[in-house]
Amino acid sequence: MKFFLDTANVEEIKRIARLGLVDGVTTNPSLIAKEGRDFKEVIQEICSIVPGPVSAEVISTKAEDMLREAEEIAQWAPNVVIKLPMTEDGLYATHALAAKGIKTNVTLIFSAAQGLMAAKAGATYISPFVGRLDDIGVSGMNLIRELKTIIDNYGFKTEIIVASVRNLAHVEQAAIAGGHIATIPGSLLPSLWKHPLTDIGIEKFLSDWNKMSGK
Ligand code: E4P
Repeated sequence: MKFFLDTANVEEIKRIARLGLVDGVTTNPSLIAKEGRDFKEVIQEICSIVPGPVSAEVISTKAEDMLREAEEIAQWAPNVVIKLPMTEDGLYATHALAAKGIKTNVTLIFSAAQGLMAAKAGATYISPFVGRLDDIGVSGMNLIRELKTIIDNYGFKTEIIVASVRNLAHVEQAAIAGGHIATIPGSLLPSLWKHPLTDIGIEKFLSDWNKMSGK
């Protein structure tokens, strides 16, 4: 499973990239706004740190405007991916960009039908939001299982980015379900490698060692 970082914070990306855990980055307008920096500058900086795909989302809602925006963003860095909303205009833009060899990530996917439409339109990635579905009492992970089956059934090249990840179980269950990628907030990442029994084990080993060496 590939891990993307779901953040636009450059310091966080640099710190976690040192661990060899970052295969790519996803951003959205809310994450960019939180940084209070110029959109292009942030995306270019992230693209220079992480060699993998970096998603940058268009703001336009009309297909022709989306395409204009996408073509400009696509020139910012070779590894930039155009993130588009799951709308009719977004599907049109996805299809047009795929024809030009520009990579896309169709975002705000909440149903299997939406994922199927985006894959058929030629999306490189689709982003189903598991946390936001859980929030309304619908199983986000069930959607991941459905999308994985659909993609495998028809041999789509589209990869699933499990998004809106809120907890450790989301990551574990997404991996079991065969999600290709999980995009994870930096703050959640330590819960993937930490376990209280590991800490207790280290403490016990060191105290036994110190007793033996007379410390
Ligand atoms: C990623 O592409 C999404 O924008 C992100 O995972 C959304 O997460 P949220 O539901 O926690 O805002």
